[in-house]
Amino acid sequence: MGANQTVLDPSIHSPEVRDFESALARKVVGQDRAVRRLARVYQVYLAGLASPGRPISNLLLLGPTGSGKTRLVEAAAEVLFGTANAVLKIDCAEFQHSHEIAKLIGSPPGYLGHRETQPLITQDTLEQYYTETVKLSLVLFDEIEKASDALWQLLLGILDKATLTLGDNRRVDLSRAMIFMTSNLGSTEVNKLMTGSLGFNARPHENDDSLDQKIYRVATEAARRKFSPEFMNRIDKVIVFRSLKHEHIEKILDIELSRVQERIITSMSDRQFVFKCTPSAREFLLREGIDMRFGARHLKRAIERHLVFPLSNLIATSQINLGDLIIVDYDPAESRLTFVRDDQGALVAPDVSAAGAVAVPAADMVVTAHALARSAANTNGNGEK
Ligand SMILES: Nc1ncnc2c1ncn2[C@@H]1O[C@H](COP(=O)(O)OP(=O)(O)OP(=O)(O)O)[C@@H](O)[C@H]1O
Ligand SMILES: [Mg+2]
Repeated sequence: MGANQTVLDPSIHSPEVRDFESALARKVVGQDRAVRRLARVYQVYLAGLASPGRPISNLLLLGPTGSGKTRLVEAAAEVLFGTANAVLKIDCAEFQHSHEIAKLIGSPPGYLGHRETQPLITQDTLEQYYTETVKLSLVLFDEIEKASDALWQLLLGILDKATLTLGDNRRVDLSRAMIFMTSNLGSTEVNKLMTGSLGFNARPHENDDSLDQKIYRVATEAARRKFSPEFMNRIDKVIVFRSLKHEHIEKILDIELSRVQERIITSMSDRQFVFKCTPSAREFLLREGIDMRFGARHLKRAIERHLVFPLSNLIATSQINLGDLIIVDYDPAESRLTFVRDDQGALVAPDVSAAGAVAVPAADMVVTAHALARSAANTNGNGEK
């Protein structure tokens, strides 16, 4: 190396990408590779090196149900645009027939209903969440194995040329889109690998790399059997999600409880309150919510059913008021959660005007700015900081 030469380190990400990656990792549990991969794609986009005339990236997400495939995309939207809604989601199963394809791309001029059918994918919908600094869109084709032939043709065109021609011949440019496609293909085999019934022992400290590689192979082989080479050749990366383990689901419980608290703080200006779950309430939710076959899917349902619905009733009947502290406990005799207002813990009315700005970081539930939240900090977690 000459005196005027410097060795460069291409493994370092820019601060924006590092922030993106760590924010994503706080929201998506146990899928480190998927998170890292997405951070890398984002870095290529920020550097301006995405291939022209193609989408920023075409990613195929495989793996078991309830393992975070859809959540990864929504979480990326939250990090980049502040809302999980900033994803253009196409449920492939909904577009089986030609009149349904018209819902996607609109019908040709002159056709009956031409004016009524606003296409789902348009340049405007793609760009609606653009910010000053982030000019990209997230497009998710869910359950692609259910796509009809007509939809496959559209999809192939998008993946290859980043364009879509609408019913009225307008062109949509998807070269600033990250395209995600999800499928459950291979998930049964992956599950078997994880639980060891294919002669593979998934012990807690199993060499994760080799297990990962096996899972990757099983899932991609299933995809290659099912999807045409034409399609597979257009995929930049296949990302295989792993089945979640108990410890992951426990972490997801904390995240989901913080999200419920966040909903209460940000969406209700006149009824903001704080709830605390006791350890036995958490255990109950976990017991109700864990069914390893469905990843974290049941957990969310358990939280809605046992926590959100009762809380909604309590709010609607004015049993909960601004600034209350609600202790959520478990009653083994009745096998249900109980709700007690802790009048000792009742708090000064929070500064409602500041409510919109309150953020509840998922990981540790530290709510900034007011007393209401301060006392609740970390109370729904498992006590660890
Ligand atoms: N890895 C994870 N990290 C955080 N939350 C998760 C994770 N996996 C699942 N969840 C929770 O479970 C819910 C369901 O997960 P998600 O919709 O991402 O499943 P999926 O992998 O897309 O499954 P499917 O193949 O059935 O569509 C999410 O909304 C989220 O609350
Ligand atoms: Mg999904």
